[in-house]
Amino acid sequence: MTATGPTSMAAHRDPVRPGKTSPITIIVDGMPVRGLDGQTVAGVLLGAGRLAWRTTRNGRPRGVFCGIGVCHDCLVAVNGLSDVRACQRRAADGDSISTEAQP
Ligand code: FES
Repeated sequence: MTATGPTSMAAHRDPVRPGKTSPITIIVDGMPVRGLDGQTVAGVLLGAGRLAWRTTRNGRPRGVFCGIGVCHDCLVAVNGLSDVRACQRRAADGDSISTEAQP
């Protein structure tokens, strides 16, 4: 069986380099961060070594907890839209991400 449609991993493959995914760059708090097409925003952040990007009211770090869109610990702003779950949002080349921890 062959998967088709936008959720297919085949859709994320680099047509120039078969078997490879395309690199993307997103802007996180004003800094460029590299990832791969098909990764979530949380995946790109984790890949860049960002384990937490929010804090609780009592200062405890938060990033990805459930990874399935339930806990809302991973909220970021994407292209000006606030309260986006980073674990559920596919990163797109050029996306601008603002975290609570931005300077
Ligand atoms: S990590 Fe739980 S909603 Fe994203």
